[in-house]
Amino acid sequence: MAGIREPRTETDRQSIAFRVNGRDVSVSSSPLQRLSRVLREELGLTGTKVGCDAGDCGACTVLLDGDPVCACLVATGQAEGCEVTTVEGLADTFVGGRLQQAFLTHGAAQCGACTPGMLVAATALLERNPAPRQNEIMDAIGGVLCRCTGYRKIIAAILDAGVKDGVVRDDASAGAAAISRGADAAVGKRLVRLDGKQKVDGSEIFGADETPASALAVRAIRSPYHRARFRFGDLAAFVRDHPGIKAIFTAKDVPGKNCYGVISKFADQPVFAEGEVRHRGEAVAAVVGEAATVDALEVADFPVSWEELPPLIDIDTALATGARLIHENRPGNILVRGRVVRGDVDKALGASDAVVEADCETGFIEHSYIEPEAGFARRVGDRIEIQACTQSPYMDRSDIATILGITPERVRIIPTAVGGGFGSKLDLSVQPFLAVAAWHLEKPVRMVYSRTESIVSTTKRHPARMRLRGGCSKEGKLLALDFSADFNTGAYSSWGPTVSARVPVHASGPYYVPHYRALTRAVHTNLVPAGAFRGFGVPQAAIAQEQLYDELADRVGMDRLEFRILNALDDHTPTVTGQVLGEGVGIRACLEALRPKWQTARREAAEFNSNAASALRRGVGVAGMWYGCGNTSLPNPSTVRIGLKRDGRIALHQGAVDIGQGSNTIVTQICADALGAPIERFDLLSGDTSITPDCGKTSASRQTLVTGKAAQMAGEKLRGAILKLAGACDCATLLFSEGGITVRDGDKSHMFALGNSPLDEHGYVITSEATFDPPTSPLDKNGQGVPYAVFGFGAHMAEIEVDTELGTVRVLKVTAAHDVGRAINPTLIEGQIEGGVAQGLGMALMEEFFPGKGENLHDYLIPSAGDIPPVESILIEDPSPIGPFGAKGIGEQAVIPTAPAILNALHDAIGIRVRKIPATPDRVRAAILAAHKEKGKENVRG
Ligand code: FES
Ligand code: FES
Repeated sequence: MAGIREPRTETDRQSIAFRVNGRDVSVSSSPLQRLSRVLREELGLTGTKVGCDAGDCGACTVLLDGDPVCACLVATGQAEGCEVTTVEGLADTFVGGRLQQAFLTHGAAQCGACTPGMLVAATALLERNPAPRQNEIMDAIGGVLCRCTGYRKIIAAILDAGVKDGVVRDDASAGAAAISRGADAAVGKRLVRLDGKQKVDGSEIFGADETPASALAVRAIRSPYHRARFRFGDLAAFVRDHPGIKAIFTAKDVPGKNCYGVISKFADQPVFAEGEVRHRGEAVAAVVGEAATVDALEVADFPVSWEELPPLIDIDTALATGARLIHENRPGNILVRGRVVRGDVDKALGASDAVVEADCETGFIEHSYIEPEAGFARRVGDRIEIQACTQSPYMDRSDIATILGITPERVRIIPTAVGGGFGSKLDLSVQPFLAVAAWHLEKPVRMVYSRTESIVSTTKRHPARMRLRGGCSKEGKLLALDFSADFNTGAYSSWGPTVSARVPVHASGPYYVPHYRALTRAVHTNLVPAGAFRGFGVPQAAIAQEQLYDELADRVGMDRLEFRILNALDDHTPTVTGQVLGEGVGIRACLEALRPKWQTARREAAEFNSNAASALRRGVGVAGMWYGCGNTSLPNPSTVRIGLKRDGRIALHQGAVDIGQGSNTIVTQICADALGAPIERFDLLSGDTSITPDCGKTSASRQTLVTGKAAQMAGEKLRGAILKLAGACDCATLLFSEGGITVRDGDKSHMFALGNSPLDEHGYVITSEATFDPPTSPLDKNGQGVPYAVFGFGAHMAEIEVDTELGTVRVLKVTAAHDVGRAINPTLIEGQIEGGVAQGLGMALMEEFFPGKGENLHDYLIPSAGDIPPVESILIEDPSPIGPFGAKGIGEQAVIPTAPAILNALHDAIGIRVRKIPATPDRVRAAILAAHKEKGKENVRG
């Protein structure tokens, strides 16, 4: 198995002429070659992205004689004599240029991988319909998938760029103009993202967009079976017989250790399997050679024979007594257990006036970022350089060093732009294959995953099987929660230990639960490894716990929102780990912000449902959330360096990888205000292990808090150094100019000319560096301690409509209240919330991945523009005493409460709970029929 490939023959090339972006071009290509490939590889127009090569994602959308088409489905011969417009050509058109500006102003581009396709599709719409309505916009962009934004800001941007009431408005450019003039304080402003321009003009470099001209192609040979023994045939003869193939690498070619893993203590994943594969899609070899030959290789011809073996697929089989061990050193196939215990849960349940028991199951979820994994590597003397998409450059560096058997200092990781990650690009993908091949061949090598290869081989959200018992008093005070969960962690550890540790800390939800027991296990099976996916298991736990709390509220006859408000944590109540946060606990404010909307929505739903003749039923649901920012009870530092340059500009070295969430902009905003400099003075250097200090991984909602705090400290330190030189007070103003700084302190003014200043070892006039590590403490054997320094809080309300005959659920609106401490950039925060809502909606109603089936974006459905309702974001600012300017994280927080709010709304609408998630139409319909059947029995009994 190696994914979908199309043959590229060199023999059927012909000259094909067409126009691209107003320019005549002629290419030598097979007329059957995909237009997307010719645009990218022959013409260098890499703004056209390839997310699937199958017409499913729309990232490759271009205009062909004015009509939007998927360039991956257009044969180049079909373009002969036509006019092709790509994202690179949009700025030259009135509509395209306006759209690009509107996308910037509205924050409609996050990672940017879908942005070219969106812009092109929107251009086609506005060219033929300058004043589209919202539903026409949704139709027009319906074929272009976005995994980050939740589409609402894209729709708003397109509306803005169009004509309204017969007038072409200039709103689209107003926001950016305000920014370019600069502002006194950057924190709190809706600044356009600093890396936005390259996302809308197509010049952003993603993993597959750049490669040395002479690079050889790398292709992995992967297992078609969940478990199998394998033997290679004559590999040397295979290379000899295929002139375009230069080498084949297997486990014996790994120069260092054939083992890696994101948590070194649990590292267990081989670069190449040895003798037996543990999951479908596991690599056994890598073929390296000329791209045309490697692409055309029929995998069936590769000399490997497989002996399929019975796999362990589900948790029960893997846990069964006597079950074969997937890893010899992990008895019972249990990777790790998690535990948080407080009080006496059994006694408290016994004393409760109401007790509810429930179970709940969720499946694998595929990350479905639009950019499949890609990159290139080259050996430079005794060093290796890898340029690829990643969320964690320093972790990659350390693992690649182990794999090659060299020191980390001899590995350079250069992250490209990341076309969505959501946790999966924390794990290595193309990097080990590239490293081994480049190391041996001493030539640059390139690897680009196909969509299928990405889906079969990269990590997923953990399937969870959860069981709960909760108890409360008749007044609705929560007394106890007993939670247990098994997670199917697949064949290798990845982030299984983190999920097992994080979930018990969070499974209470943001409520005071005096008696608590949460036990988790990560269980190995022969399936694709489950890893990090926005929330590390907490979204699964929230689905279970928030539904249980609704049932408890119902049992004691309380309003479901008021039940949550009554039990909400506050600054002085201890969490389930015994931590008292002291300040910045904003859950009650979030829930109370929903109250008026909740009451209105409930009343409106009841009115709608009074029409008993209709098969449609409406419901309203609510769910709360909390999420600890950063690693659980582990060191978690970020280091930021800033340097004052002779030209009066400031270099900001921050190694946080911006995967679309906006850390490039947010960290700079924070640093700018800490220093007291306008944001325009900053030159950003991000994410390159040779030039930026370690800012840790982009995950766990830690970059705003941890790297942001380090940036604040570095900014304040540099400010302090400048003020000291001037002998000025803290309140002095810094004025930066070309080649100098003026310090204004009351009536006094000190001017420093920097042009001839001596430079320090970093090459700056003054360098300031700061490290921040959030204060946490280890958890004891009962999980008591301080797992996180800062939590983010939130609550979502979902309004839905259920078609009881079809079992379909339509989400009408989501209202999302989040305590973000301090909204550093409200536009970017809203973008995170809207994107989180979209992923939560997919989790609740649509998404489930079955290993071995539907390994593409045609069968695996994620929400498209038409699925996403309006989202109203309410930003609460209850400052964290620790976070930069009071800020907390929002990345994972945004996704957690949506699914339980929708599932609670489903119950509110039809009185039925679907225990196996997602609540797809067949499951909803089956639950309705089962309930009818049960009711019929009761009627008979009655
Ligand atoms: S790459 Fe063409 S539709 Fe996905
Ligand atoms: S911004 Fe749309 S996929 Fe990332």
